[in-house]
Amino acid sequence: MNAPAAAGERKPVSLVRLRRMLADGEKIAMLTAYDASFARAADDAGVDCLLVGDSLGMVMQGHASTVPVSLDEVAYHVRCVARGRRHAWLLADLPFGTYETGPEQALRSSVALAQAGAQMVKLEGGWAAGTVRFLVERGIVVCAHLGLTPQSVNALGGYRVQGRDEASAGRLEREARELADAGAAMLVLELVPAALAQRVQQQNPGLIVIGIGAGNAVGGQVLVLHDMLGITPEPRPRFVRDFMADGGSIRDTLGRYVAAVKDGSFPDPARHTY
Ligand code: KIV
Repeated sequence: MNAPAAAGERKPVSLVRLRRMLADGEKIAMLTAYDASFARAADDAGVDCLLVGDSLGMVMQGHASTVPVSLDEVAYHVRCVARGRRHAWLLADLPFGTYETGPEQALRSSVALAQAGAQMVKLEGGWAAGTVRFLVERGIVVCAHLGLTPQSVNALGGYRVQGRDEASAGRLEREARELADAGAAMLVLELVPAALAQRVQQQNPGLIVIGIGAGNAVGGQVLVLHDMLGITPEPRPRFVRDFMADGGSIRDTLGRYVAAVKDGSFPDPARHTY
């Protein structure tokens, strides 16, 4: 594993660099960010990727889900984060209802986020390979999201582990392959058994798989900022570690998160994994 470069030596993280980290076995540390100050602090701590997640609907706006978030709201937070970031790769969620009606709608929404400062867009769902191919052919860098896809929480019947049985695990593996073949550069896998996530990463060695509640046999990890700072009230999902509980400043805490992802101690198979 490569040691992360010291702050003074860091270059902006690129897609080429992320792919090299995956190939070299250096774990990628991703965190959500919604404003310039936290983006700067996370970037200074060595976070590789900042995600302007539509989780902003829950942690910033107080909604019960990500469903009400609009494209303009994500674009606003992307502009804020883009002003704070120095080195980290910046990706943003296409919110619910802004890409599902067809590739042209997805392209219009992706362009809006790219013009706000996003280097990559993220979309949810195993159905989306055709849309991913259309976007990639037009120069958009795409991250897909499978497993627990929060925009479909009503259809999924709540925030529950996905891919537990053979049929749904097989479907997820097939969808991951289709998305990778369509050109998705990255895949967020949320709330799935660690063994399934490991298989997806092994079957798609060039795909940067980022886990959240998906074990540590993948290319990297992401957490929601407010979860890892212990701001989200209990009960928090099992996959969350409150890094603030060990004390110290917020900047120290962000650094501990990066270090724990890099050295593989987070997620702990005994505590944070399904
Ligand atoms: O919106 C978000 O923050 C996300 C993460 C949970 C990966 O999609």
